[in-house]
Amino acid sequence: MTTLTIYAEHDAKTPLARHTEFAAIRDALAQIGVEFERWEASQPLSPTASQEEVMAAYRTSIDTLVRKYGFQSVDVVSMHPDHPQAEAARGKFLSEHTHTDFETRFFVDGSGAFYIRKNGKVYMLVCTRGDLVNLPANTTHWFDMGPRPNFKAIRFFRIPDGWVGHFTGDPIADRFPKYEAMV
Ligand SMILES: [Fe+2]
Repeated sequence: MTTLTIYAEHDAKTPLARHTEFAAIRDALAQIGVEFERWEASQPLSPTASQEEVMAAYRTSIDTLVRKYGFQSVDVVSMHPDHPQAEAARGKFLSEHTHTDFETRFFVDGSGAFYIRKNGKVYMLVCTRGDLVNLPANTTHWFDMGPRPNFKAIRFFRIPDGWVGHFTGDPIADRFPKYEAMV
């Protein structure tokens, strides 16, 4: 289930609010400039669908987003619990960072948690199948795919190397509930 849990950044124990309804999540994220949508596949997709089949199933939504923001490339990535790099992959963006490009992800399958820090609050968004999240460039955030990462996602890019993480050095992520505590 997709959830948005909002905390004061100095208190990771007591959430200020928790939303599970699409409209409530969308509206709360819109207030901090983060776009959140739900996309429907135009045809059933098997778990082993190819990149081309995935793209075809979401073609209309992909094209609309690409036109809106001028994305230059789109790809599909997968992570599985048995992947040899699963632990390293989890650690890569588990600390607070920013990017010079959008971080735009559509969850074809599986799940992962974004934590966005803005205006003195931390927004923990657990994404699941059908969720599109679009973080503007320079949004302060981190991402937790959990100890047994399992997801397939479409990624959108405008700038080469725009996905590189610029780490803030703030250990704030260590204080907040991990993915597995919330899912
Ligand atoms: Fe990121």
